[in-house]
Amino acid sequence: MTKVIKNGTIITHDLTYKADVLIDGGKIIEIGPDLQGDEQLDATGCYVMPGGIDPHTHLEMPFMGTYSTDNFESGTRAALSGGTTMVVDFVLPGQGQGLVDAMKTWHNKSTLASCDYSYHMAVTWWGEKVFDEMPTVINDHGINTFKHFMAYKGALMVNDDEMYASFSRLGELGGIALVHAENGDVVAELSAKLLAAGNTGPEAHAYSRPAQVEGEATNRAIMIADMAGVPLYVVHTSCEESHEAIRRARQQGKRVWGEPLIQHLTLDESEYFNKDWDHAARRVMSPPFRNKQHQDSLWAGLQAGSLSVVATDHCAFTTEQKRYGVGDFTKIPNGTGGLEDRMPMLWTHGVATGRLTPNEFVAVTSTNIAKILNCYPRKGAVLVGADADLVVWDPEKEKTIQASAQQSAIDYNVFEGQTVKGLPRFTLTRGHVAVHDGEMRTQEGHGEFVKRAGNGATNKALSSWKELTAPRPVERTGIPATGV
Ligand code: URP
Ligand code: ZN
Ligand code: ZN
Ligand code: ZN
Repeated sequence: MTKVIKNGTIITHDLTYKADVLIDGGKIIEIGPDLQGDEQLDATGCYVMPGGIDPHTHLEMPFMGTYSTDNFESGTRAALSGGTTMVVDFVLPGQGQGLVDAMKTWHNKSTLASCDYSYHMAVTWWGEKVFDEMPTVINDHGINTFKHFMAYKGALMVNDDEMYASFSRLGELGGIALVHAENGDVVAELSAKLLAAGNTGPEAHAYSRPAQVEGEATNRAIMIADMAGVPLYVVHTSCEESHEAIRRARQQGKRVWGEPLIQHLTLDESEYFNKDWDHAARRVMSPPFRNKQHQDSLWAGLQAGSLSVVATDHCAFTTEQKRYGVGDFTKIPNGTGGLEDRMPMLWTHGVATGRLTPNEFVAVTSTNIAKILNCYPRKGAVLVGADADLVVWDPEKEKTIQASAQQSAIDYNVFEGQTVKGLPRFTLTRGHVAVHDGEMRTQEGHGEFVKRAGNGATNKALSSWKELTAPRPVERTGIPATGV
């Protein structure tokens, strides 16, 4: 049975034009005027865009003594509700655990997904097993991105020697290095000092992670990646110091991408000064929310192209879970939600204000992500042959964000009370209409794993360049005799 999206305006990262879209077997089979299909979706007054891709989620993540509450079931439903049709989650091997073994655990969790998904692999420890399994993970299992936590000392953090070894291996194998860039040693020192001085509340979480810890770690990761010859993707870039390092690296021709979150773009540090403990603790995440100057820097980065994508780092804990940290801010599970709200919030605060064009919106929520992660144009495109992961976007549709009406399984929303204008009329996941004019028609288990091959265009270019410019011995004409 074919479906046709009629009377809409197609918006891609580079074009805006009126055309219908014909879908069959989960794929786009034709784009043009006056198309007919068995089922018709009316897009009058709407934009037809590639579905959003969230490159950074933690669904049912084991973290800080608990599991994040949104799993692949509620998480992907929340995604689709907000126009996101693919999520990329992080596989987290335990200490000493093999990468492939950990991946199997994630495959068991993700059977519930109602939209497509992919994984990044986290390098949470370093050893021969990790080194040996990396090629299998990339070549057989379709995971080409590997995340390194420079924070969370004593838990997920890796040190510089481990990072350099891992980056070098990835450079060799055609993978991409990801970093959570915060200096975990300094954070640990600052946290202990704050606690000792009686600073136990959620605001101390922000005090313990100033912009300098992020700027320093971003710089360090960039330099290590450059020496190792691997492209680098910096997750949740939240401040000018980190953005500045990324901007400079890109101007120098280094292959580095920065990923601001919708939360950092639209919420600021004043949230932590709220008199209500729960309000502040619900917003505890790493890096923390920053001030307006940092927010301006992130917006400017998206406009200028020095920052490439917008994510959520969706890692949703209930109020009850957040309360593990009453009396000690270091025990508040780190993470906030946003999957359902990323697209409407970015449209409202980005496109409606004139900070972003609709085409730039598509680039940073979908197409750039698909290109960087090497799944374009299967994803992130409105092209014949691409998956029919589409959002029919109604720029006039409004709502006030309320936890009571959300798909996410937690009991609050960090954007509570904000009015957004610009929402999906329809969201299609491989041709299936999961959101139909405000009605949820998701199908648990409809989602499929998206393999992403290694050695993409950026890897090839970088390895050619590194080979060409590698240090070489000088061929000398005369060598003096030794031992004289
Ligand atoms: O606070 C955060 N960001 N929690 C999720 C894990 C991570 O660091 O990405
Ligand atoms: Zn992180
Ligand atoms: Zn994260
Ligand atoms: Zn289906």
